[in-house]
Amino acid sequence: MKNREKTSSKAFRNYYYNLFSFLPFVFLLFTGIVVLRYHGGAPYETKSIGIDGNQWLLVHRVTALVNIPLIIIHLWLNAHWIKKLVTFKMNGKNNGMNLTLFTIFIVCATTGLLAWFVFEGEPLGQVLREVHNKLGLLLIFFFVIHLSNYYKWFLHMTKKYLGKNK
Ligand code: HEM
Repeated sequence: MKNREKTSSKAFRNYYYNLFSFLPFVFLLFTGIVVLRYHGGAPYETKSIGIDGNQWLLVHRVTALVNIPLIIIHLWLNAHWIKKLVTFKMNGKNNGMNLTLFTIFIVCATTGLLAWFVFEGEPLGQVLREVHNKLGLLLIFFFVIHLSNYYKWFLHMTKKYLGKNK
């Protein structure tokens, strides 16, 4: 396979995968906002869109467990970027933003998982949950920026895809 064809097939692989993993991630962020309502003081018996706070927390936890491997795969598919990061060879225009999003994701996921699996019911768990939900809000913000940085690439790939299937 020629070099250009190889790059293009990798780009399509990433394109399909990004499409596939987009909705689960948006759903995770959405459930985060819903549980924030209860975390902020609404009684857990109160229903939001048909289910109560404890059920939403369960949905948020399960969605988190589904999304973590999905995001790890997304990072692995963009391994060339991680390679540049660890070898300090970053020079692209979105690198600062990507690095910020990556760091927020790591700390947000770690604080959520530690609060659940290690410090549940302990005061430190509560502190971690506080840190977690603030980072969750930042994650939403930087994810929107991430989307806006790559929407041109996404449109370009969509046009290419449509052209390919004519
Ligand atoms: C990387 C994305 C995320 C992951 C992996 C994740 C994971 C988790 C986990 C595992 C818990 C359970 C902690 C526990 O039971 O003690 C949790 C709780 C929580 N998460 Fe997330 N979360 C993410 C994103 C978000 C976002 C975007 C928000 C909101 C802006 C958010 C808000 C919350 C809140 C408020 C709680 C505590 C709920 C409560 O105390 O009832 N999370 N998260």
